[in-house]
Amino acid sequence: MKILVTGGAGYIGSHTTILLMEAGYEVIVFDNFSNASKESIKRVEKIVGKDITLIEGDIRNKEDLQKVFQSHQIKSVIHFAGLKAVGESVEQPLKYYDNNISGTINLCEVMTENNCKSIIFSSSATVYGEPKTTPIDESFPTSATNPYGRSKLFIEEMLRDLYISDSSWKIVLLRYFNPVGAHESGTIGEDPNGIPNNLVPFIAQTAVGKRDYLRVWGDDYNTPDGTGVRDYIHVVDLAKGHVKALEKIDTFNKVMTINLGTGNGYSVLDMVQAFEKASEKKVPYKIMPRRAGDIATCYADPAYAKKILNWEAKRTIKEMCEDTWRWQKQNPNGYKDNE
Ligand code: NAD
Ligand code: WQD
Repeated sequence: MKILVTGGAGYIGSHTTILLMEAGYEVIVFDNFSNASKESIKRVEKIVGKDITLIEGDIRNKEDLQKVFQSHQIKSVIHFAGLKAVGESVEQPLKYYDNNISGTINLCEVMTENNCKSIIFSSSATVYGEPKTTPIDESFPTSATNPYGRSKLFIEEMLRDLYISDSSWKIVLLRYFNPVGAHESGTIGEDPNGIPNNLVPFIAQTAVGKRDYLRVWGDDYNTPDGTGVRDYIHVVDLAKGHVKALEKIDTFNKVMTINLGTGNGYSVLDMVQAFEKASEKKVPYKIMPRRAGDIATCYADPAYAKKILNWEAKRTIKEMCEDTWRWQKQNPNGYKDNE
């Protein structure tokens, strides 16, 4: 049973590849390495003790995709490939629409031509925009505040339309909350390009001495300590959610939209404290004005995932910080030292 994992060399894709292989699936990783290193795949191979079929290609290039489907019998696709930097998407919207939307259109066309109609798509809690209340369940209204978020919304709608046109498709839209952490080996993890935008990679780089201090974007939100609250989810729990979705996808013909979150909200300062404990390092910080586009509080109602996938996140904030720290400490420059 071959599973095509687009973007499989990236942060979430590499962790998911491990769990898929451990569950006995044959995985084909397809990636253009625009935001990943081949080293991640080498390390995944080491962890699972098996070789991985790796195809270098771009989802915007139909020929690249055709080659994959013509040389492999693909049962389902897990579609991670995409660009994800919110700020960059504001500066270069067309790059995001082209890569994320045109790429997904190509992929779905090639899948249709090869009669593979089973896809799990990486959506995001960003599609909830500024939620009126929390926890957020899947029926909440959606909106977007930047081109990245809009690309996720458009793709969700596009996949729903695809199903309406052809009900033999099986489609799962997974809305991730805030993925953090790393594989427990400390050999693979998140390797941001340049200065990290996301909180946990920035904290980790501060703890390891690469950054002087963390800028806390606002402490005047309506939250217990005034800083932003998010639903941080361990990447291995998230990866497990994909394996569960793959088990489920054969049993239905419809579009399923599912939150992958823990249901718990932690503030920026909670995360700083937890990371200091895990790393036994000081994480200096300064309170700064709010960051444009940020919301106060965002956390999932994870009940539907539990009901439909029999999945729930298990790992604690402590484990998220300890595993991030192991990865950061062992690889202060990410994969770059091995490229
Ligand atoms: P990532 O950048 O580490 O992984 C994405 C992978 O896709 C990279 O390996 C990149 O090289 C590859 N890629 C990008 N464009 C491609 C193209 N045109 N053709 C082939 N490969 C291409 O990101 P990630 O954090 O692992 O995220 C995976 C998916 O989950 C993305 O779609 C992202 O938008 C979504 N997501 C991520 C988060 C998060 O905070 N990390 C949250 C919600 C949703
Ligand atoms: C978390 C909290 C910040 C950095 C983003 C994307 C979203 C999704 C996940 C893909 C907030 C605060 C952060 C820093 C800080 N990605 N913070 N100092 O904003 O919830 O979501 O990543 O789909 O689309 O928007 O995550 O990690 O950037 O921020 O104080 O240096 O940490 O203000 O409260 P966010 P984040």
